[in-house]
Amino acid sequence: MIPELNSPSVWIRDRARVQQIIQSMRCTGPSTLQVISDFDMTLTRFAYNGKRCPTCHNILDNSKLISEECKIKLADLLNTYYPIETDVTQPMEEKLPLMVEWWMKAHELLIEQKIHKDHLAIVVRESDARLRDGYKLFFDHLQDKGVPLLIFSAGIGDVLEEVIRQAGVFHPNVKVISNYMDFDETGTLRAFKGELIHVYNKREGALLNTEHFQELRTRPNVVLLGDSLGDLTMADGVHDMENILKIGFLNDKVEENKEPYLTAYDIVLEKDETLDVPNAILLYITGQQ
Ligand code: TMP
Ligand code: MG
Repeated sequence: MIPELNSPSVWIRDRARVQQIIQSMRCTGPSTLQVISDFDMTLTRFAYNGKRCPTCHNILDNSKLISEECKIKLADLLNTYYPIETDVTQPMEEKLPLMVEWWMKAHELLIEQKIHKDHLAIVVRESDARLRDGYKLFFDHLQDKGVPLLIFSAGIGDVLEEVIRQAGVFHPNVKVISNYMDFDETGTLRAFKGELIHVYNKREGALLNTEHFQELRTRPNVVLLGDSLGDLTMADGVHDMENILKIGFLNDKVEENKEPYLTAYDIVLEKDETLDVPNAILLYITGQQ
């Protein structure tokens, strides 16, 4: 049906079920479809030429807007909390407060740096941020077919928007739920707006944004893209869901995480830096293949 699904980096627990979901989505077509995707390490690459690519936060952390002293503190936070984020053996109740702690501490440090909003576009341009290969087809095709794309990110909305704007793919069908910066009258960062979104509370973000999902009530088929087990709850605000196809990028700690990812995601993409598989599925569902 879709040759890309036979690639050795594609892991599927229940092929018959995946096939049935995809056929059912193809039958009702693009007018009943919506896509919900995480951003960092899902739409962006995990690594390029053997070097890790930055998250939205890292784009700022590594930039000239941050003092050397602050860079060390942010790197210490990353080294402390990232292993916790990706540790599948640690119970969620223990991880949750630690994730809140990480985001709060990181945001506090960023605020101390008095970042000016006019500098964001420059640091994004100068960064090593890279969308996954195939991103243009992904964004352009969804726009062409009138399929809404929700990017649901625990990163920084202002930075994320700039990445997709500079890539020329911030089309009108794209909506973003993320942590947005609050600037004072001089354009200086003074806080972050609204409820904090971290990797493991995306469900609350989805439920708070029910009016977005309300608008999409006639689209009961959801393709969800994520790279963390926390991304699985991004569609919890969708009403009257009929089918959901969960595609997970397994970027890191492959051996330890393969089993839980295979249980949680319908399709697992192991160390695949492209959007080829999601693109092939979306083209098939929307009747292009
Ligand atoms: P995502 O929901 O778009 O994937 O964004 C969350 C990622 O951001 C998560 O994997 C951890 C990462 N992160 C940093 O790299 N630096 C930070 O300071 C914080 C708070 C998060
Ligand atoms: Mg992610």
